[in-house]
Amino acid sequence: MVKPREQWGSRAGFIMAAAGSAVGLGNIWKYPHMAGQHGGGAFTVVYLICILFVGLPILMAEISIGRRTQLNPVGAFKALSNNSSWKFVGLLGVASAFTILSFYSVVGGWTLKYTMLALTGAFNDFAVGDSAAQAFNAFVTNPISPVLWHLVFMGLCVLIINQGVKAGIERWSKILMPVLLGILLLLVVRGVTLEGAGEGLRFLFWPKWGDLDASAVVLALGHSFFTISLGMGTMITYGSYLSRDSDLLQSALWIIFIDTAIALLAGVAIFTAVFALGQNPAEGPGLIFVVLPSLFPQMPGGAIFAVMFFGLLFVAALTSAISILEVVTAYFIDEKGWSRSKATYTFGGVIAFIGVLASLSNGSFNLLAPFTELTFMDLLDKVSSKYMLPLGGMLTAFFVLLRWGIVRFTEEIKAGARWFEVNRWTVTTIFTIAGTVVAYIFVRELIALFG
Ligand code: PHE
Repeated sequence: MVKPREQWGSRAGFIMAAAGSAVGLGNIWKYPHMAGQHGGGAFTVVYLICILFVGLPILMAEISIGRRTQLNPVGAFKALSNNSSWKFVGLLGVASAFTILSFYSVVGGWTLKYTMLALTGAFNDFAVGDSAAQAFNAFVTNPISPVLWHLVFMGLCVLIINQGVKAGIERWSKILMPVLLGILLLLVVRGVTLEGAGEGLRFLFWPKWGDLDASAVVLALGHSFFTISLGMGTMITYGSYLSRDSDLLQSALWIIFIDTAIALLAGVAIFTAVFALGQNPAEGPGLIFVVLPSLFPQMPGGAIFAVMFFGLLFVAALTSAISILEVVTAYFIDEKGWSRSKATYTFGGVIAFIGVLASLSNGSFNLLAPFTELTFMDLLDKVSSKYMLPLGGMLTAFFVLLRWGIVRFTEEIKAGARWFEVNRWTVTTIFTIAGTVVAYIFVRELIALFG
């Protein structure tokens, strides 16, 4: 007997789950160092524009495709396009899920390890010289420890996804998201009350247009997909558990508001501390795992704030990682008739295995060593955020314009809408602009890749 498809218990539950997916390493780990390296406020302005004019429409498109069909991404594109080749957009999404989760979960493991280090007071040894950098390097290149932490992290994802939509994803998101917000607010208060914090705020928000080059714009656009979990069917999948009486625009606005607010707050918490304690803001990816651990011992109450910070990072990563695994699980349940646990355990296992290779690539076992300087883990990250997500997002925008049709799409977003009227021409214009901008950037990237 086929069980009826699960649904979210409430609209707030859906918003928490979707915001949990959106808020992740992208907000707390990636955004601050990207802004730090590419023009501070200038980067932030471009990022906000991308979110509003490209991210929001595509988010609406994904949620409504899911809600309309009540299916996983592949099934959804199939259903709305009469089984045409548009279903490959869904398959691209499932492939992106494998690619992203395999490296995301490795970093998820790092957040667990660093929470443990913070709990045991190990950061006290990091305040001198470059000991924090050495410790981080020694950890990520180690063939065993980061692999084990990655497996623990993947194991937690599998356990939650195996519990299902309501009892797993929704329940955990409703518990973890408020915890995350609470911790972040405490960290912000700690940051802005440090002496010299103002410098950090100026750095993050004051636009330095000179530092903003074309590649920074591309980065901001790619990141706006990554940070709202777009372009791979996560939001289609989460939308498929929604009922038709929910207000899509309102939910979508909540999701991007929470996601953006948390990225900015994380930036505030981090840069106020970095500047107050006289560190280099443009540290790149090491900002979180190298600079911060060396700063905590120097600030009052640092030991507690350190545990909070890495706990926050871990929670954010976990609620995103489960949304990626759910894409794969939903696909195998809907399209192949697998049970939830069979799909979750099997593909959780496959992704865990690829993740092991990703983790090892930081040390002496890098599959790609003969071909390029990139590690296998960097490759998974680059390929997915620079090419796969933008391609998926662009095709989703064109799908709405060219195949599903603006009329049917507007009908779908009108169902359940309580407070707005949509005009077909406005929607067409927005989607044409969003699709074209992404297509332009995508083609530029391809030319740069082969040129
Ligand atoms: N949005 C998540 C983050 O910012 C990452 C993610 C990407 C999650 C794609 C799901 C799908 O960290």
